Amino acid sequence: MIHSLKDTVQLNNGLEMPGFGLGVWKVKDGEEVIHSVRSALNAGYTMIDTAAIYRNEAGVGEALRQSAVQREDVFITTKVWNADQGYDTTLKAFETSTKKLGINTVDLYLIHWPTAGKYKETWRAMEKLYKDGRVRAIGVCNFHIHHLKDLMEGAEIKPAVNQIELHPLLSQVPLRNYCYKEGIAVEAYSPLGSGGLINHPLLSEIGKKYGKTAAQVMLRWDVDSEIITIPRSTKEAHIISNADIFDFELSPEDIDQIDTLNEDKRFGADPDNFNF
Ligand SMILES: NC(=O)c1ccc[n+]([C@@H]2O[C@H](COP(=O)([O-])OP(=O)(O)OC[C@H]3O[C@@H](n4cnc5c(N)ncnc54)[C@H](OP(=O)(O)O)[C@@H]3O)[C@@H](O)[C@H]2O)c1
Repeated sequence: MIHSLKDTVQLNNGLEMPGFGLGVWKVKDGEEVIHSVRSALNAGYTMIDTAAIYRNEAGVGEALRQSAVQREDVFITTKVWNADQGYDTTLKAFETSTKKLGINTVDLYLIHWPTAGKYKETWRAMEKLYKDGRVRAIGVCNFHIHHLKDLMEGAEIKPAVNQIELHPLLSQVPLRNYCYKEGIAVEAYSPLGSGGLINHPLLSEIGKKYGKTAAQVMLRWDVDSEIITIPRSTKEAHIISNADIFDFELSPEDIDQIDTLNEDKRFGADPDNFNF
């Protein structure tokens, strides 16, 4: 169970992954991302989620070096971008990412999107990186059930993680159930609806009962279901308050109410229909 910022979820290869981390999509490289990552590490976060396409891996690496926290105490996720998918190109993209991050080993390397005709070759490269000890776990993002089934056919290694858009308006229950059955950990991206659910009336009302914000209610709802979550913020106060969710419990009635909010609404693209 995720009861604190330090708690972990055990992945299907035995690796312990923190259940709560900081996302840095759209956070500018340089000062802005350094500030966000440093604020998170100072607040006790132990996991950072970046990607090659976020173009801020260098700043993430710089923040790690500036921090007093040891490299082995921070879990770093990065992702191979769609244009780099394929066997050789993924291996090359990985080297570029690690160089920018200034680290030799990545904790979790993910395929960013299920690029048609490419992701199986990409996965072979991910498997090589894993066997070579360059990554401690490999996984995917934005994979529907049919993508996972297709990928696992013939794969040597099962994905450890599926990082998917997940929040109260897109609760992804069938995909979550499938992943749990297959031993694939579920990680919620855009857990606050990319900011769009921050003032949601029902979530705010539930939060009021506990002296918590709608954001804190959504993040608590994630960790209560063993869903790894990675809210983004560039503001130190938000970074601190987002992690302040371990001193209250949502009642079963509140959880039932939150569960009724699902309308399969996406703030991002549908993995069956993206053009990038
Ligand atoms: N694999 C993928 O395809 C994929 C796609 C999307 C995202 N992701 C990952 O998931 C992470 C999170 O998703 P996301 O970036 O879409 O958005 P999110 O975490 O759902 O929401 C971020 C937004 O909420 C605001 N916010 C955060 N905490 C707040 C608070 N306590 N009070 C008020 N506003 C608050 C932030 O603004 P402030 O900066 O002003 O706080 C920002 O505008 C990303 O950063 C990325 O690492 C992955």
